[in-house]
Amino acid sequence: MDPFFEDEFDEGTKTKLRIYRDYLRSWLPNWVLRTRGRCYIFDLFCGPGGDNAGNNGSPVIAVEEVRLQAERILASNELELILVFNDKNPEHIQKLSERLGDDVLDENGNHLAKILYRQEEFDELFPKIVPAVQETPCLMFLDQYGATQISDEVVKQIDTLQRADVLFFVASNFFARFGDQDEAKAVGISKETAQSSGPNQTHRMLANHFASLIPDMFIAPFSIRKKNLYGLIFGCHHYIGLEKFLEVCWKEDEANGEANFDIYEDNSYGAQAGLFSHTKLRVFREEFERKLLSGDFQSDADVYRHCLTNGFIATRHVRDIVERLRKEDVLSIQDESGQQLQVRLGKACLDDPRFLILSSGSNSQD
Ligand SMILES: C[S@@+](CC[C@H](N)C(=O)[O-])C[C@H]1O[C@@H](n2cnc3c(N)ncnc32)[C@H](O)[C@@H]1O
Repeated sequence: MDPFFEDEFDEGTKTKLRIYRDYLRSWLPNWVLRTRGRCYIFDLFCGPGGDNAGNNGSPVIAVEEVRLQAERILASNELELILVFNDKNPEHIQKLSERLGDDVLDENGNHLAKILYRQEEFDELFPKIVPAVQETPCLMFLDQYGATQISDEVVKQIDTLQRADVLFFVASNFFARFGDQDEAKAVGISKETAQSSGPNQTHRMLANHFASLIPDMFIAPFSIRKKNLYGLIFGCHHYIGLEKFLEVCWKEDEANGEANFDIYEDNSYGAQAGLFSHTKLRVFREEFERKLLSGDFQSDADVYRHCLTNGFIATRHVRDIVERLRKEDVLSIQDESGQQLQVRLGKACLDDPRFLILSSGSNSQD
């Protein structure tokens, strides 16, 4: 038996799986409604289905989340949802397939999704999957042990998947400890660089490294401290996926939206972010207001994008600022005809941006 599954999952693993579940819960309905044809959930390091204490692992979580969407799935008769579970350990695949069978059914026996099992080395299976799903919607969960399977090359391959949302786990601390060893060479971060970030920031630095390789993709990290530093890295090509992932992260970490510990050592972890008193959020908000008053944002869509690409959510973190400036007549929100409109900073901005007009007398550079 693999020791990872013998004991109860630790708190870090439970956090990781909660984030996976929460992301699936917002990802699934979105794609179920939009997809005609195939849509995949790939879990390529799936394990046997859970620990010995009865906590469900990622493949069982995926099946549970699919069942939650039964009504939507049955209503969309053109969707073909396929779950692919892979693990190199044959015992894990046997145990999992005995538990889950080949189909996900609802409580009345209606077919919701198909399950395919593979028992392959990740580095053999992954290159076969990539060309087959270039344009296919999919969610890929890569929950490796350690840090050696998800290389720079794998990340570049992920970038070719235009409609994939990817969540992978990595023992980031590995690069600070063993970054000079051969197994670490497939990720272009040296031991010195990894160490220079300081022990709390290694995972963020690793995410920045991957982001630099694939500038077209949005990347967001979530750091997880167990005994050492680990973390999840999320990637996708669209703002809406990024927003959904960040919502999950801010639910986990109300103060900073990016870790299961006090990542900036400002006593923020576990504190309520509603007061906007924590360093990261306070600095971002101050900078945001300065930029807004300087005319850096032409539209509400600019604000929406700026917040997301900096790890914040406009409706949650800056709406009150925009609202206040509008009430103070410093700012107005207008459509193309000049009609005055309400503040609206959610995803609707992307399709139909509204202009942000600074009144004369504000700090605008214009
Ligand atoms: C961290 S566990 C996955 C746990 C799983 N996500 C869950 O929630 O229960 C990593 C899994 O990857 C499998 N594994 C390790 N190296 C692998 C490789 N090179 N290719 C495929 N599977 C591998 C292990 O057998 C193990 O089941």
